[in-house]
Order: sequence, then C-alpha cells, then structure tokens
Amino acid sequence: MLLYKHYTIPKRLNSLKSETCVVGIDLGTSRCCAAVFRLNGVTTVPLDNTGERLLPSYVSYDEENAIFGKTAVKRLRNFPKSIVFDSKRIIGRNLNDIEIDSNWPFRISENNGKVVLEIKRFNDGTTITAEEIATDLLKYIKEKAEEFQGTPLNNVVITVPAAFTEAQKETTVRATKLAGFGNVNLLPEPIAAAFAYFIDRHIPDNAKVLLFDLGGGTLDVCIFKIQNDEIQIISNIGDTKLGGRDFDTVLFNHFKHQLDTKYHITLSKDKKYKLILDCQQIKEDLSPTTSSM
Ligand SMILES: Nc1ncnc2c1ncn2[C@@H]1O[C@H](COP(=O)(O)OP(=O)(O)OP(=O)(O)O)[C@@H](O)[C@H]1O
Ligand SMILES: [Mg+2]
Repeated sequence: MLLYKHYTIPKRLNSLKSETCVVGIDLGTSRCCAAVFRLNGVTTVPLDNTGERLLPSYVSYDEENAIFGKTAVKRLRNFPKSIVFDSKRIIGRNLNDIEIDSNWPFRISENNGKVVLEIKRFNDGTTITAEEIATDLLKYIKEKAEEFQGTPLNNVVITVPAAFTEAQKETTVRATKLAGFGNVNLLPEPIAAAFAYFIDRHIPDNAKVLLFDLGGGTLDVCIFKIQNDEIQIISNIGDTKLGGRDFDTVLFNHFKHQLDTKYHITLSKDKKYKLILDCQQIKEDLSPTTSSM
C-alpha cells in the first residue's frame, strides 16, 4: 500500500516575513503559473512577454536565446523542428514508458542512456533532454518573478502530479537546482489545489474530499482525508498520460480525416500545426458555447 505524507493546511499570512522570499511554481504540461507574496497577499506573476500570467509551456530554440510562451507557440508554424512542448510528459521517464504523440514535431530517442528530443537548435545542436527544457523554463520563470519582486528568490515550491514517480520528482528537483534555486520543495498538485480551496474556508474535521484535476497532460483523481487541519491523500487513481492535449489530438485526427476524405486536402507541415492549435481553441470555445467558428 502506498503511504502518503500528511500536509498541514497553511494559515493565511498577515504580514511579510523574510521567509516569504519564495516563489510557487505550477510547471504545467500546457501552461506554467508562478505566485509570490506581496503586501496585499499572494499574487501571480506576469510571465509571458504579453504580460499574461499563464505561460504556455512551449520553448523555441531557433534563436541564440531560447524563446518562451506565446511567442514560441506562434513560431510553431515556421520553425516546428525547433519548438518543444509536452516535456512534462517526457521528464524522468524511460523511453519505453513515454507515450509518443504522432503530432510532436520532434522525435524521441535514447543517447548514452538518456532520453533525448531531437530538434534543430540555433547552435547546430541536435538534441535536448526534458530536464534541460525544464531548467530553461524554470530559469526564465525565476527571472520574471525576481524582476516582478525586485529581489532574488532562492526558495521555490514546485507542484508535481501526485502520481509522479521518484525518478520524475528527482529529475524535476535537479532541473530546478540547475535553474539556480537553492531550496526546492515539491508539493503534489492535488494538495496545492486543496490548500488553495481551504485557505479561505472553514476546514471541516474528519471530512473526505474528492478532487478531480484534468490538466493539459495529467489527470489527478484523489481522495483526501482531513483531520486536525492536516490533509492526507488516501487514494490516487489518476492517469499521468491523460489530459486536454489528448482531446486536441482526437479533434485534430477528426478534422484531418474530414479534410482528406471530404475535400481531398492533404495537410502540409505548417498547416498541420495551425490545425492542432485551432483544435485546442475550438475545444475551449465549446465549453461555454455550442458552436465555434
Ligand atoms: N475553457 C476550456 N474548455 C476546455 N478545455 C480548456 C479550457 N481552458 C483550458 N482548457 C484546457 O485545459 C488544459 C490546460 O489545463 P491546465 O492549465 O490545468 O493544465 P496544466 O497545468 O498545464 O497541465 P498538467 O496539470 O496536466 O501538467 C489544456 O488542454 C487546455 O486546452
Ligand atoms: Mg496542472
């Protein structure tokens, strides 16, 4: 039987202390988010160059310096061989444990016992590991958070799926240290969600809570037990290989088939990535409405 740690639900801080020089990072499969303490409470950091708080977890290596977020997404059409995404689905896994997505613009292989993504880099490099991608993303997020706070941030809390294996967690910690953080703590994503939920609510004793978190690449379905302000995961039946990205792929395959059979159009490479991004948009539009143009 898996034994899960107990986590004490934090109390809201009323004043800033030195130990508040910390950043919390949700390193998502599809989007990253970071939060810091400000005088008026916890605030999310503008991460993307557009000023948006959510940073698409896309990195482009077609220029000397890596490019992150929306700008990297936009480059997918013209530089697909230099763009990486979904690296959270690869980090810390063995090659035979990776679900290869036929729509990835990169290939996955093994080099000296390490899983690598084959890409086209500005400096002629041809491979990169998911750990290096996570390091680059975290370095960028650290810079943005420090710029926002005007102070160095050495401490970090990173959320990871509850079902992450030891190898996935260790690799994430290594990437975080390489990004320049000194003090790294990992927090299971469902626990972070429960903290956020209970911070402003009455915490019931002896309650059992069901949490359902369908992210971009991972599904966490957890049952917690709450006792004396402590949370313990008692069951986790998530799927680390199921998320919104898979719905995009189903839509993409549908439209690709339609274009092919109904209109006899074969998708060119650049249009393929446009269609993938359009499918994601269509899916999101269809949440609040019944049609999408
Ligand atoms: N309005 C919406 N309707 C349907 N799906 C949506 C909507 N908004 C976002 N999504 C989808 O949710 C997913 C992103 O969710 P989220 O930001 O929770 O994931 P993540 O944290 O990046 O991934 P993970 O937690 O799996 O690592 C994407 O697949 C996105 O397309
Ligand atoms: Mg998430």
